[in-house]
Amino acid sequence: MPNANKAQAGRHFLQIPGPTNVPDRVLRAMDRAMMDHRSADFGALTLRIMPRLQQIFDCAATVAMFPGSGHGAWEAAMSNTLNRGDKVLAFDNGQFAVSWNNVARSLGVEVELIPSDWRQPVDAAAAAARLAADANHDIKAVMVVHNETSTGVRNDIPVIRAAIDAANHPALFLVDAVSSLASMEYHHDKWGVDVTVCGSQKGLMLPPGIGFNAISDKALAASEKADMGRFQYDWKPVLTMSKGGYFPYTPPIALLYGLDEALDILLDEGLTNVYVRHTRLAEATRRAVRGWGLELYCADDAATSDTVTGILMPDGHSGDAFRRAALDNYNLSLGSGLGPLADKIFRIGHLGDLNELMLMGSLCGVEMALGDAGVPHQKGGVGAALAFLGEG
Ligand SMILES: Cc1ncc(COP(=O)(O)O)c(C=O)c1O
Repeated sequence: MPNANKAQAGRHFLQIPGPTNVPDRVLRAMDRAMMDHRSADFGALTLRIMPRLQQIFDCAATVAMFPGSGHGAWEAAMSNTLNRGDKVLAFDNGQFAVSWNNVARSLGVEVELIPSDWRQPVDAAAAAARLAADANHDIKAVMVVHNETSTGVRNDIPVIRAAIDAANHPALFLVDAVSSLASMEYHHDKWGVDVTVCGSQKGLMLPPGIGFNAISDKALAASEKADMGRFQYDWKPVLTMSKGGYFPYTPPIALLYGLDEALDILLDEGLTNVYVRHTRLAEATRRAVRGWGLELYCADDAATSDTVTGILMPDGHSGDAFRRAALDNYNLSLGSGLGPLADKIFRIGHLGDLNELMLMGSLCGVEMALGDAGVPHQKGGVGAALAFLGEG
């Protein structure tokens, strides 16, 4: 019987793919008075953060931090490296890829698309062929979303890097790691990425509000010549001021207190353990989906995301009505379908500060809400996830 008590005692289950649950330790770290952002103490805080942040991106150079969201970090990546009228090669393999392409167009960048099947990873071979044909090097950058949050499909960044190298093409490689960083394996330097874009509200377990760019030497050199207008997101003053631990404007102080703590949590667990935990929780989720007899939106088993799972609604059933039942009856928030997938899929976010019991509680809520919403399914999903986790 669904819960008739809308007051809903107990905790809310936030199972969307970001913003994610903020650990109590991080909440407490942020619950502090403001400090003078030009003081020695503030400089020391940022200087303490930077080397650990570099470990998360796996990069040797300073990471640019901005007050802003992932959209701001997208804009920063392009406005610092490109000129108006430049051409970029991109994919349209999900709603976040589409949105990033739209940001590029709004900055005056010409976007050449490699058409994509949203249920599959992007076609690196098609990119290699297009780059090989670009003898004049008109294409200035290749843009790809590592983990497409709208679909639950993971793209293979080293394979796309290899495609650029195979064509011997000088294009910059811009990668969105907004919903993969600090949850799924990621290496800015080793993977030959020129700009990695991220935000604070997913694997870093913070509220939204900090945008990040990890920057290669090649991207930094491009920024010296890029004449696209920029101000807040200009790397130069940010990187110059960050040498002393400062910002060229008032920084998001509370979020930086939180970041300091979140980095300790992540590095105490160990990045490899963080990745293994996410893989395990994702696999349990996929077992549950198959146990319910529902279909994963990602059609390539080798490309399933470890941070978010997209699930197709059976024909004639509304994803939004089902999600409403989960929220109303069990205080469980699930991700909606975005863009053309609105109402057609729902998404379970399984990233950030999450453990097995939190995931199992959420999967129980999904199974119960499927019943409440009259969505045809089998009852074995929770059992299948449990059996997988019980294997050790
Ligand atoms: C992959 C990806 N890129 C970019 C964004 C945009 O980030 P924001 O909403 O912080 O602007 C998101 C947001 O969910 C995302 O998942």
